[in-house]
Amino acid sequence: MSKAVVAVVGSAMMDLTAYAQHLPEPGQTLVGDLFTTGFGGKGANQAVIAAHCGAEVHFVGKLGRDLFGDSIAQNFKNLGINSVHIERSDTATGVAHIWVDGDGENRIIIIPGANSEIESAKAVAAVSSINDLSVVVAQCEIKQEVTLAAFRAAKARGCTTILNPAPFETLGTELLELTDWLIPNETEFGQLHGELPSNDQVLKRFRPGKSSVVTLGSRGAVLIHADGSIFRVAAPVVSAVDTTGAGDAFVGTFAYGLASALTAQDSLNLGVHVASLSVTKKGAQSSYPTVEQIATLS
Ligand code: RIB
Repeated sequence: MSKAVVAVVGSAMMDLTAYAQHLPEPGQTLVGDLFTTGFGGKGANQAVIAAHCGAEVHFVGKLGRDLFGDSIAQNFKNLGINSVHIERSDTATGVAHIWVDGDGENRIIIIPGANSEIESAKAVAAVSSINDLSVVVAQCEIKQEVTLAAFRAAKARGCTTILNPAPFETLGTELLELTDWLIPNETEFGQLHGELPSNDQVLKRFRPGKSSVVTLGSRGAVLIHADGSIFRVAAPVVSAVDTTGAGDAFVGTFAYGLASALTAQDSLNLGVHVASLSVTKKGAQSSYPTVEQIATLS
């Protein structure tokens, strides 16, 4: 089988996470259980899990010239992720402040920093020059105009494009047209579509003629084919300690699946199982299953 080559045009952040049984109300101070510093950012998370799955991954992004930037760059290097298209800036590396409660649910505020400075021309140059590239993945933690430019370049050379519309923002018509696979979670689906994905009829009306996946947390995920047919995968029952980065684990694994010529349904199945494993550990990238664990799922 030929190598699955994936480019992620997106964000990299340092995650600063506080864990507490209960989260404070406005004006309240509470004692928490744990603080961690870990590698995150939706783009970086998706790149890392795609690499764990076995893809050749190229990350296109921007880091600050600071300690967080150095440490994220070293992490990519350690994982064999191609960093030729990562630029550095005098603006600080992006950070995410995360609160995780006793049920493993999170609240996140991102400060994008250098992520906001990725330039369209650089993204186009990267996507146009990577050998044997088959899948280009993006999210909404960088400027939408950069994603649009990257997807134009991706479609011009016949790549498959995947957009994870997180965090939610209104998406332009051309970007939606250039997106082969749109992968929102339930909340984002509701924001994009105006109603929640409560039944098959709602799902079929989402993007007629285009393909999508809606991630459903502990209930798995649902694939909506371009012809309107629906395919569901239930998630295995696990004990969740931290859901941070689970959606990214799904997206990166799904991208790997498509790039390695798995069917969309097999990619969905693998993505759901990898994401389910990720919620059993704390953190985003720190929670991701290893290469060896993923091999047992295929
Ligand atoms: O999706 C989870 C990610 O969102 C975290 O890693 C955090 O960095 C934010 O980007």
